[in-house]
Amino acid sequence: MVFTGIDDVQQNAEQVLPRLFRDYVAGGAHEESTMRRNRQAFGKWSIIPRCLQDVSQVSTHTCWLGYECSAPFMLAPVGFAGMMRGGADLMAARAAAAERIPFCVSTFSIAALEDICKVADVDILAQLYVFRDRAITHDMMRRARDCGVRTLILTVDTAITPLRPRDERNGFRRLSKPSLTQMLSFASAWRWSFNMLRYKQPELGNLKVYGMGLSLLEQAKNAAAQIDPSFSWSDLDWLRNEWKGKLVVKGIMHPADANRCIAAGVDSVMVSNHGGRQLDPAPATLDVLPDIVAAAGNTNHAVILDSGIRRGGDIVTALAQGASIVALGRPWAWALAANGEQGLTEMIAGLRGEVRDVMGLAGINSVSSLREKGCAILRKA
Ligand SMILES: Cc1cc2nc3c(=O)[nH]c(=O)nc-3n(C[C@H](O)[C@H](O)[C@H](O)COP(=O)(O)O)c2cc1C
Repeated sequence: MVFTGIDDVQQNAEQVLPRLFRDYVAGGAHEESTMRRNRQAFGKWSIIPRCLQDVSQVSTHTCWLGYECSAPFMLAPVGFAGMMRGGADLMAARAAAAERIPFCVSTFSIAALEDICKVADVDILAQLYVFRDRAITHDMMRRARDCGVRTLILTVDTAITPLRPRDERNGFRRLSKPSLTQMLSFASAWRWSFNMLRYKQPELGNLKVYGMGLSLLEQAKNAAAQIDPSFSWSDLDWLRNEWKGKLVVKGIMHPADANRCIAAGVDSVMVSNHGGRQLDPAPATLDVLPDIVAAAGNTNHAVILDSGIRRGGDIVTALAQGASIVALGRPWAWALAANGEQGLTEMIAGLRGEVRDVMGLAGINSVSSLREKGCAILRKA
């Protein structure tokens, strides 16, 4: 399949997925206004074309936290991504490694971290939710360390799981086993079902050892309830002390929180509103990015941004405003649903091509030069 943009990838994925998972990926919290705002924020900026700059060589390569990246984007953690297609977590690891893009495994992955880390040439990042039962959190960190994970991404914007209307309607995280309606919907999504039947009964690969239930739906419900709403700054200090590798905090939307993370010794903060799945209404990540970059500025901290990135122009716009790299969530889940590992490889290559084209047409040869030029390449649309 030729890559023509992430909107087309989404459309192809949605033709394959049953409603439960189609809605789970595409949906957001409450009015879904944060989700829309994330996209609208990119529409407020344009990139000024420049000419006669010798752009015969344009490199999208960059280095972030010691990861050599072929382009300034990575795959954000997406729970249940393994329900998009059988073996999807392993496919993502392979595609990311082959395309030299960092990939972060979710706590809620279907394949276990240990199995994903066995994929050849991978250098996986692991995402962590802090659970009420700290022994589980502690053990998850040990497992990550034993797997050779260098970087932990700690997600902090999920103290509460808000109503996501699409999931509520479908019974996701409410039902313990599929309803008749769900079974019928699985049957009508025959391509998805046929593929899934070739794999063993899906479970939350990282969490099943902690006895969270027998079926996937039961595990999803129990695991969500395990996320600790009392987690606070002193706990972050504890975790920083426990985890000796690189630590990224994901879900930072306020400069004061970014400052506190930096004071705690965090290596990188991730500006994220969870793709509009948590607080609604929240600001778009692009709108708060400059304040967070300014807060982190003097300390030379790498700031990542996610939520709403869909085109190469979005990535260039975020980097011009101070992001070191960006992350994408839904798009890689859609790519796998639409066309498996090949679909994701094509999406990564296609998006990298878009970044290269946009940089070239803006007269920029490298990511470092893009950073130097910064907002000078942008215009308020
Ligand atoms: C279906 C889905 C599952 C997600 N699961 C997780 C998760 O397990 N851990 C986490 O930190 N973020 C999770 N996220 C948030 C993503 O990491 C990321 O912040 C968000 O998807 C970025 O927005 P985008 O989808 O518009 O690119 C999830 C997002 C989606 C869409």
